[in-house]
Amino acid sequence: MNTYLIPCLLGLEKLVGDEVRRLGLQDVRLENGRVLCRGTDGDCARLNINLRCGARVMLVLGQFNAATFEELFQGTRAIPWEDYLPRDAAFPVKGYSISSQLFAVSSCQAIIKKAVVERMKAHYHLEQFPETGVKYPIRFSLQKDHVFICLDTSGEGLYKRGYRAVGVEAPLRETLAAALVILSRYRGRDPFCDPFCGSGTIPIEAALIAKNRAPGLHRSFDAMDWAFLPVDAWQNARDEAVSREFHGDYDIWGGDIDPRAVAIARDNARKAGVADTVRFEVADVKDFRRHSEYGQLVTNPPYGERLLEKEEAEALYRTLGKVWRGLPPKWRTLVLSSHTEFERTFGRPADKKRKLYNGMIKCDVFMYGDRV
Ligand SMILES: C[S@@+](CC[C@H](N)C(=O)[O-])C[C@H]1O[C@@H](n2cnc3c(N)ncnc32)[C@H](O)[C@@H]1O
Repeated sequence: MNTYLIPCLLGLEKLVGDEVRRLGLQDVRLENGRVLCRGTDGDCARLNINLRCGARVMLVLGQFNAATFEELFQGTRAIPWEDYLPRDAAFPVKGYSISSQLFAVSSCQAIIKKAVVERMKAHYHLEQFPETGVKYPIRFSLQKDHVFICLDTSGEGLYKRGYRAVGVEAPLRETLAAALVILSRYRGRDPFCDPFCGSGTIPIEAALIAKNRAPGLHRSFDAMDWAFLPVDAWQNARDEAVSREFHGDYDIWGGDIDPRAVAIARDNARKAGVADTVRFEVADVKDFRRHSEYGQLVTNPPYGERLLEKEEAEALYRTLGKVWRGLPPKWRTLVLSSHTEFERTFGRPADKKRKLYNGMIKCDVFMYGDRV
């Protein structure tokens, strides 16, 4: 059995833990900003392909306490690197240190690299390693003098599903958009709307969830090239994911006042393979009306960082509040915003709030349940 470490945005730990349990992984443990679990070699592919809210999947090769460079060196050298890394492997080292005696990250990086090289020298009888082959990114984390030494199996972060155009302003991470959809308890039955859709991330993630389509089905991961993992694990995980897809009729809509954003959203939906499932329209939020009994409104309006923009953002929140009061009472609404005055300008305190970090920006998810 392997130990996997899945970093995630702060505030998403529980959602990631639920996802990991649903995939059948064992000994799931939630920590700040990460989830640990145990599983087979094949689970590496299943986690990478299926996780919606996790940031990446790390395979833990060792964990130990290290308060000195000597302890860090010895603990790292004790790992059987030759079982994982071939003689031409490229093995860049990166990591971070929080609340630990070893706080100089670049020195830790150098010590870990040296320890791996020492171990490999003894096994491969080489003095120098060319590092011209497949990449095995080594990642370490030091928290309160406890070290995890891992291989990053994902390569690019899992939020990079591969559908999003570059150069879009203030887009939401796909992992965070998926988290909002999951928090809204959308199951694909009711209408789903985002009236500030921008590049379409929230409606596209809603479509992937409605279809139960694995978000990583069409992208590659660094660990696909690793010889010590079973070759058929990736195809098996893809086959399993495809066999679990749903096929139904869904009512998913995104609107934005900016025609350029709408064009990008349509293109992203096409790349994500959900163009037939989501509709995008140029629309001003002030004209948003719906009459169906049930529905979900999940959105991420402009935050307004500067003073003038702040006033504009507040005017939009007032409009959104008015729109919300006009919705049938059984609709559920979720708004992600970092604006401290959101509830006052929206015109009603949220029934529930949840803190999340959009990268470094502290946000709240304001949740308004049904009113019956
Ligand atoms: C923070 S962005 C949304 C980003 C989006 N979640 C994404 O992932 O790309 C807010 C969006 O609100 C749009 N917007 C601003 N005023 C609007 C209005 N009156 N009606 C509809 N959309 C508006 C902006 O054009 C912008 O795309």
